Amino acid sequence: MMTSSEIRQSFLDFFAGKGHEIVPSSPVVLPADPTLLFANAGMNQFKEIFLGVRASSYGRVADTQKCIRVSGKHNDLEEVGRDTYHHTFFEMLGNWSFGDYYKKEAISWAWELLTEVWKLPKERLWVTIYETDDEAGDLWRACTDVNPAHILKFGKKDNFWEMGETGPCGPCSEIHLDNTVGGATADMVNAGTAEVIEIWNLVFMQYNRKSDGTLDELPAKCVDTGMGFERVAAVLQGKASNYDSDVFMPLIQAISDLSGIPYADGETAVAMRVIADHLRALSFAIADGVMPSNDGRGYVLRRLLRRAARFGRTLGMTRPFLCELFPVLEKQMAAVFPELTARRDSILRALRAEEESFATTLDRGIALFDATIDDLLKQGKKTFPGDQAFKLYDTYGFPFDLTVLMAQEKGFAIDAPVFQQFMQQQRERARAARKDHTAAENDLVSAFVEQGLFSTFVGYHRTSITTPILAILADGQAVEALAEGMKADILLKETPFYAESGGQVGDTGVLTAPTGATFTVADTQRPAQGIILHRGVLKNGRLTKDELVAAAIDEDRRDAIRRHHTATHLVNAALRRVLKTDSIKQAGSYVTPERLRFDFTWFEALTPEQLAELEREVTGFILANREVKTYEIPLKDVPGSGIIAVFDEKYGDVVRVVDTEGISRELCGGTHVNRSGDIGPFRILMETSIAAGVRRIEAQTGFAACAHTLQEHALLSGLAGRLSLAPADLPDRVEALLEQTQRLEKELKALAEKNALAKGAALAEQFALLGGVPVLVEAVGELEAEPLRALVESLRKQQPDSVILLAALSGGKITFVLNAGPTAQAKGLHAGKLVGAVAKAAGGGGGGKPDKAQAGGKHPEKLDAALATARNLIAQALEA
Ligand code: ALA
Repeated sequence: MMTSSEIRQSFLDFFAGKGHEIVPSSPVVLPADPTLLFANAGMNQFKEIFLGVRASSYGRVADTQKCIRVSGKHNDLEEVGRDTYHHTFFEMLGNWSFGDYYKKEAISWAWELLTEVWKLPKERLWVTIYETDDEAGDLWRACTDVNPAHILKFGKKDNFWEMGETGPCGPCSEIHLDNTVGGATADMVNAGTAEVIEIWNLVFMQYNRKSDGTLDELPAKCVDTGMGFERVAAVLQGKASNYDSDVFMPLIQAISDLSGIPYADGETAVAMRVIADHLRALSFAIADGVMPSNDGRGYVLRRLLRRAARFGRTLGMTRPFLCELFPVLEKQMAAVFPELTARRDSILRALRAEEESFATTLDRGIALFDATIDDLLKQGKKTFPGDQAFKLYDTYGFPFDLTVLMAQEKGFAIDAPVFQQFMQQQRERARAARKDHTAAENDLVSAFVEQGLFSTFVGYHRTSITTPILAILADGQAVEALAEGMKADILLKETPFYAESGGQVGDTGVLTAPTGATFTVADTQRPAQGIILHRGVLKNGRLTKDELVAAAIDEDRRDAIRRHHTATHLVNAALRRVLKTDSIKQAGSYVTPERLRFDFTWFEALTPEQLAELEREVTGFILANREVKTYEIPLKDVPGSGIIAVFDEKYGDVVRVVDTEGISRELCGGTHVNRSGDIGPFRILMETSIAAGVRRIEAQTGFAACAHTLQEHALLSGLAGRLSLAPADLPDRVEALLEQTQRLEKELKALAEKNALAKGAALAEQFALLGGVPVLVEAVGELEAEPLRALVESLRKQQPDSVILLAALSGGKITFVLNAGPTAQAKGLHAGKLVGAVAKAAGGGGGGKPDKAQAGGKHPEKLDAALATARNLIAQALEA
């Protein structure tokens, strides 16, 4: 029996034997493609080749692609674990032709691999074709010995494959495998059961679906195939379920060991399959740089993790367990996907941190669940409301099926239609957000591609060039000419302008026509490969399509950008030395003429010592004045070469390396200095956290660093000058001043209290009898609340059976403190109520007990009026 590793290898060997270049899987994230959250098919990384906007150096390639299907058009999440053959993470084996071979070879080779190499029984194979694709039907009959009765026609839903709402698509032909004992019948194909499953999809890529729904012919006819690796492994190993193959069994065994529950049937088995599946998706996504978070891809991961954690609880696993299971996955897969080992630390930490934090949310969710059940019991209802189930799902990450389970345990059904309604609304919101973002871009690209319009970037070596205008876009429309003052996007045949990408901002500059017309470029953007748009405004004159212009970038600005960009690479290299690990991963960067930002995966704040060391390391690299070379290599030579690749870049099969001699090698399309010494001064500005497990460093180089240093120096010498000191003496003096301030504040307070008590002696003389009770109502000037209370207390000791109301000012506000003795209280005077009424007269409020109370007033100018009110109220109470 072949192991799954052998099966994967035999697929690749077979297609290598047919002249295919074996290429690496792309990362599971392709952020350069906003239509996709995660890679969901092998063809994703080749989308632009199909569209004709990027050339491939190979006519035919094959690979195994890491895919995640959890959202969007291809979404298998709910099936996972319940059936035997759906996964959130899976490998898609594929072979591709880029305008090279077509249907005939794709069909014959698929048949050859399945029946001759892998020796699958022919009578167990069924083939589907698109209802109008007679060509494919004829080829199946002519080039293979498939049973002609096993060739079935299906419509658009089954046999027309589309990447997403927009993008490459075409009719397809699928190969299905019959798993039944007695032999399948035609109606069992595409019935959505495990009896007959699809194992391989051959797509004949022919069209580009645009956002308005129409189809454009692609520049060349292509082949895109995808085979479910886990399915084929199960089939070739004679297993009824993918989860029984050696792809999953080691994981399931480990889960069973950890939980002490055997892998058998029923809900515990579902839980084990879900956990095994989700662990794979989580580990591979984190390895490619995604971290669990609150939005986008990170949110998908968070939900997967929570789903796994909840299923874990059904197996009695309450402590973090995914991180315990990861080593099993690593052992099994690292030979093919070494990123699991390279990123082990990050994966383990992210899993553990998320599992721990979810434990808290989970408890809160369970509390909400219990409270809802209690309410329902009181109301005598038997249906758990759909909106609550949605809240549990959305806010507390409870998978729906688990809420169902928990409700069932309590004897409740769930209002599923309402839940689905909420889900639908959420999906629509997400879809609307996606559409806005991508539709216009996709159409634009298609329009240019149709007309064969591309620009060539010449800005690595030149800063200006004379070149024709290929297209002018104003207000999203192609126009023939531009008038003075109009804003537009201009496409040039060749351009020295670097378009924003890889974190580097776009160039600015000017386009000048021989007529003197000048267009100032404020930004350069690249909505797709080869489509470089100069964004700006026509300052004067008139510009027309096809006219020649001199395109010149702002060179000083570009130089400043280059310094910051190369410095970013040096930061990346230096961090590895300072933190003594290669497992940090770039999580983003932003390079401007004024500063650089470098985000990377790391869990703790850098200490001041580490930051100082980092600044010294980078400065050392700069002073070494190493040559910065750029060259191209095949992408397949990158793995294992030590070259740093950034996850959010989409690479062609030839990639550009930026090599700072002996210090760093990175894949990068950006513009760089010639020698590291060109960077000049380097200063770190700050280090912060931007998300769980992601840190950010901001720094400056060149003139910006110089300006920053000068500014700091001016600040420091200004301060020192003010204190008539040398700057070096500032820390001691500041310390001394702080101490002095504290001491003075204390003294001041003591003095105020002393004053208050002295006042007390005078005040004690001022009691007047009202209804036989000694009464004192006075304002005492500036005094804090605490000494004011002390003052009232000392007066009370002298006249225990009295009424004392004192008011003081502090910080522009009034404080009233009132004390009422036993006789006054007996006469119905309530200190709390009275002080409240008094404070109200000064625009404030407060209260307290019958004997002691305090209140505040906001309007010092009303103090006299408030005290008059007080005297009246007291008199009323005592003289009644
Ligand atoms: N792109 C095709 C699929 O994903 C092969 O099924």
